[in-house]
Amino acid sequence: MILEATSDNIDYCAGLLQQNEIIGMPTETVYGLAGNALEENSVRKIFQVKGRPLIDPLIVHCLHLKAVELIAVPNDLVHNLAKAFWPGPLTMIIPKNKSIPDMVTAGLNSVAVRVPRHPIFRSVLERIDFPLAAPSANPFGYVSPTLAEHIQRTLGNKIKVILDGGPCKIGLESTIVDLRDPKIPVILRHGPISSSQISNCLGFPVRTATTGKSDGKTAQSAPGQLTRHYSPKAKVDLLEHGSTQHENPIVPSLNNATALVCNKKPDWYTDQPNIYWLSETGNPDEIAHNLFNLIQKLDSQQFQKIGIERVQTEGIGSAINDRLERAAAKS
Ligand code: TXA
Ligand code: MG
Repeated sequence: MILEATSDNIDYCAGLLQQNEIIGMPTETVYGLAGNALEENSVRKIFQVKGRPLIDPLIVHCLHLKAVELIAVPNDLVHNLAKAFWPGPLTMIIPKNKSIPDMVTAGLNSVAVRVPRHPIFRSVLERIDFPLAAPSANPFGYVSPTLAEHIQRTLGNKIKVILDGGPCKIGLESTIVDLRDPKIPVILRHGPISSSQISNCLGFPVRTATTGKSDGKTAQSAPGQLTRHYSPKAKVDLLEHGSTQHENPIVPSLNNATALVCNKKPDWYTDQPNIYWLSETGNPDEIAHNLFNLIQKLDSQQFQKIGIERVQTEGIGSAINDRLERAAAKS
């Protein structure tokens, strides 16, 4: 059931969380499937509802840095980055303490923490005295939800309540940075906060993890080690950035079951069917904001193939291309 985020409904959701229920709720990145991070009973439900393997650890969401200090051991880098980017779309991996059940971290001795900015998520956190474990609220491997309706369509029969916050402002999952070794910070997942923003804040360069392949058994120490991830049912083909502005190579291959997704409205467009664009002007933030929503829409319209144009790599562009590559991966 989708509930409007009135004060009464937020109280009701806080009550459900206190009883170890799990609920769908908005963050500024994507919608999360949230439960009490300190209670294994609640955390287990998150894995079950998503169909997520227990080797894939969860992000823990806290109201502020002080609440993070109750569950983990932040170093100086965490303090610096928190000052610059929290509340906001940055997740930091740091050593955990005993209060976090092993199930949350897949047995790792580090925990992923984030202080979210979304006012509805924060209102819920203000009403409870525990942090919330929350992965994206999609069935495992599928595209993340950016509307309450996306959760209703895919997981609606498995959870009681989805708090409606309208479309997520950013539309792409948070940046994840591993800070376990303060000398070698590593970006594990590109996201809305770029690696140069992180490097500038820390005053030295950060590395980006090369994605290893999961063996399917041991805890995943970086997200998306299962390469195929964030994938719609439709087959995704990637097109080079800029290529959709040339009419001929692409348009003749379009048929009823194929959609073409451009960065911006093509100059040649004159009402041809099945042509979509993510931004009037090709603005990367707008592309990120609209991407998952459009993919979910095309999937629900039963398109079998979606051709999507890559974006320029500046700013949030690397994160967009990362998600596109994973959506297009065969396995
Ligand atoms: O924007 C977001 O980050 C959204 C919203 C709901 O906050 N959450 C999200 O969670 O995208 P999820 O579970 O879909 O992706 C989190 C990723 C997982 O792929 C997991 O592998 C990684 O974070 N992760 C969690 N804990 C970790 C740890 N201790 N070490 C390394 N990676 C970890
Ligand atoms: Mg996810």
